[in-house]
Amino acid sequence: MSSFSIYLLTFALLLQTIYGASPLYHICSSSENFTTNDPYASNLRKLLGNLYYQTPPQGFGVGSVGQDPYKAYGLAFCRGDVEAADCRTCINEASTEIHKLCPYNKGAIIWYDHCLFKYNNTDFLGKIDNQNKFYMWNVRNVSEPTIFNQKTRELLSLLAKDASATPKLYAAGELELEKSKKLYGLAQCTRDISASDCSKCLDGIIGELPRCCDGKEGGRVVTGSCNIGYEIYPFINA
Ligand SMILES: *[C@@H]1O[C@H](CO)[C@@H](O)[C@H](O)[C@H]1NC(C)=O
Ligand SMILES: *[C@@H]1O[C@H](CO)[C@@H](O)[C@H](O)[C@H]1NC(C)=O
Ligand SMILES: *[C@@H]1O[C@H](CO)[C@@H](O)[C@H](O)[C@H]1NC(C)=O
Repeated sequence: MSSFSIYLLTFALLLQTIYGASPLYHICSSSENFTTNDPYASNLRKLLGNLYYQTPPQGFGVGSVGQDPYKAYGLAFCRGDVEAADCRTCINEASTEIHKLCPYNKGAIIWYDHCLFKYNNTDFLGKIDNQNKFYMWNVRNVSEPTIFNQKTRELLSLLAKDASATPKLYAAGELELEKSKKLYGLAQCTRDISASDCSKCLDGIIGELPRCCDGKEGGRVVTGSCNIGYEIYPFINA
């Protein structure tokens, strides 16, 4: 099942995400469902609780609960610059919301500006997920797209390298564009995948920038395992 979608980063959405409330995107798997008295339901409830406690201190958590065929696997993570308290708020919001949005789907994923939350009845941990994916872009165009695209690629490729060389699999940074103008970017992977898979994942999505973000002042490519983003204003806490 290919889950693929396009999103528009409007100013309104941007404001909303700054204040943290609404999800950027979500996907419910339609291949398998469960009912309220299914053992999967109670395993999933336990899993959500475990991830809520486990994730904020490190900004990352994985786990599984139960036995096959009712076993539930989950992953939660927060953006690298997000503090534990804000991470907890986001994970709490995400687990509540995903449960509302996909109440009977065995697999689901939800993305916020500050965090990601995912679960499934198959073991997805440690594998690159580029099936769950979306794009966002700033609607404003730059005046010199060729040079700008090149700079964007340059910054994000550097950050991808840095991210896969750190234990947190996260890097943020900036690049001087011209006098008093800067480009800001971030690159991050979920910590269940290896450093080399992180690098592979990030290089893959950098290659997709032309599909969403050609000549755009800002853009993001987000998957279940890695994401990149850039803007011409500082959009993360350094
Ligand atoms: C699961 O539920 C969704 C609606 O939430 C439905 O579209 C889908 O066909 C169901 N899948 C199965 C295998 O029953
Ligand atoms: C859950 O696993 C199934 C089977 O591997 C897959 O088709 C589906 O996309 C997964 N769901 C999510 C949200 O990753
Ligand atoms: C940006 O450029 C595209 C394609 O040239 C155009 O369709 C769009 O209206 C432009 N957007 C703005 C905000 O000017």
